[in-house]
Amino acid sequence: TAEQGAQGQSGIAVSAESQPAQTVTVLYGSQTGNGRGIASALAAKAQALGYGVNLVSMGDYKVRQLKQESLLLAVVSTHGEGDAPDDAIELHKFLSSKRAPKLDNLHFSVLALGDSSYEFFCQTGKDFDEKLAALGATVLLPIVECDVDYEEQAALWQTQVLEAVKPLIKDDTTASVVSIAGGSVVNTFETGFTKQKPYTAEVLVSQKLTGRDSDRDVRHVEIELGESGIQYQAGDALGIWFTNNETLVDDILAKLGIEASETVSLGNETVSIKQALIEIKELTQLNPNAVKGWAELSQDARLVALCEDKAQLRQYVINHQVIDLISQYPATVTASGFVGLLRGITPRLYSIASSQTEVESEVHLTVALVEEEHDGQARFGGASQFLALAEEGAQVNVYVEPNNHFRLPANPETPVIMIGPGTGVAPFRAFMQERAAQGIQGHSWLFFGNPHFEQDFLYQIEWQQYLNAGELTRLDLAFSRDQAHKVYVQHKITEQGEALWQWLEQGAHLYICGDAERMAKDVHQALIDVAITHGEMSLEQAQAYFETLRTDKRYQKDVY
Ligand code: 2AM
Repeated sequence: TAEQGAQGQSGIAVSAESQPAQTVTVLYGSQTGNGRGIASALAAKAQALGYGVNLVSMGDYKVRQLKQESLLLAVVSTHGEGDAPDDAIELHKFLSSKRAPKLDNLHFSVLALGDSSYEFFCQTGKDFDEKLAALGATVLLPIVECDVDYEEQAALWQTQVLEAVKPLIKDDTTASVVSIAGGSVVNTFETGFTKQKPYTAEVLVSQKLTGRDSDRDVRHVEIELGESGIQYQAGDALGIWFTNNETLVDDILAKLGIEASETVSLGNETVSIKQALIEIKELTQLNPNAVKGWAELSQDARLVALCEDKAQLRQYVINHQVIDLISQYPATVTASGFVGLLRGITPRLYSIASSQTEVESEVHLTVALVEEEHDGQARFGGASQFLALAEEGAQVNVYVEPNNHFRLPANPETPVIMIGPGTGVAPFRAFMQERAAQGIQGHSWLFFGNPHFEQDFLYQIEWQQYLNAGELTRLDLAFSRDQAHKVYVQHKITEQGEALWQWLEQGAHLYICGDAERMAKDVHQALIDVAITHGEMSLEQAQAYFETLRTDKRYQKDVY
């Protein structure tokens, strides 16, 4: 899911123009909220030190303000094959463009977030770092590149960077007394339940939505937020902290020949290896460093060779889990040696499938069980298996990750077009609950697709009820495997191109949720074709049309 800082507009942000030169500008570009979390915490600490702070999402940042900055701390993540997060795209482009100004007066530091399983690890952060330096800015603290378990490194960067900023701020005595309008950053950001301080909620229901003969196991999960006071909006995501499956952990320990009760130390605590593997360490997503470390231990020539080929290593970590690695390449390892190879568990984000106007203190998710087979053994995704097996009353640690890049139109009369095949339909269930609660107003159009009508029509009855009530205006379905040739949502879009074009011309907002790699790209292409065919545009005009829709926040994506 994408996100943008609501906090950026929450009243603590003060325009740099109204501040003395020593205001610290904290910029973040972040797809899943991690970057925003770090930037907010940094802003809070800077403000506690009495510094003037301007915390802003790169998506809201006016690029021409850059040349007026003197202190810039940037937190930016990288996605997929080296891509910048949506809110960072414009600034990223601007820094490499001819329009980019000289930045001789600027001091800066970059914290880059990424996933070391990918080849272009932290590429966007590296680009920012290089570009700013190339424009004449001075590096305050060298770039720090963080992997998915970034907490410790990010905390260290925050401390060090604020130390490095201190002498620059102290030079100007007025700067240290700059006060910020509105409440303190600490109050704005550190209340409520967060990734670091999640709420322990209760699972009410985890029930299969797909039929007995389906190839997929998709669950409807309901979670009770009780007295937590947690609020979310349609479009937000829920962060799920999960524990690893006990049987998987027992299998791993058996293969390693390590006793479950053997202890390991992690930070300042000592726990049994079994507890560490269930509660603390990531087992279902492999990372390249673990494979390299394992190659050294096993000295297996095939594995050593695999580690030397980046592309092969990448494929290996995508397609295998920790248990596959240790089964395929046997080695001897101590309990602490093994635990030391593994990254910490990171929570998974699920697009919320309910609206609080309808379900109040509950939150609903649509969860596809991630299931693969390796060497004849079934392997499951960590969080999805945890949720699939959760019984009524099971505890789960959760937090809301706001997503201001995926919002219903402010005016309920504005029509919406929702494209959500597979579990991508989740936020549209939230949208429909929200719109229905507002009374029938603007028109709504849903495109849904899945393999088979009989087995995989997620929430079929609910859509039919919305249709009957007139709350859903149109429903187009693409059951890909119910006929000889594949039918996908983009085919339905092409088929309904004329009507779709009319909706857009009447101001409809357009939403896509689901698979990023293929679906969202193919759907985008189909939309371009609709504009060419029915809007009588050239390719360039059609591209510009959707770019304008995007910047007008009328074309929003939540893709993964
Ligand atoms: P398939 O698995 O039969 O190929 C949800 O996963 C639905 O999206 C499935 O029906 C799946 O079809 C379909 N799908 C697969 N690739 C797609 C693509 N590139 N664009 C749109 N839908 C796609």
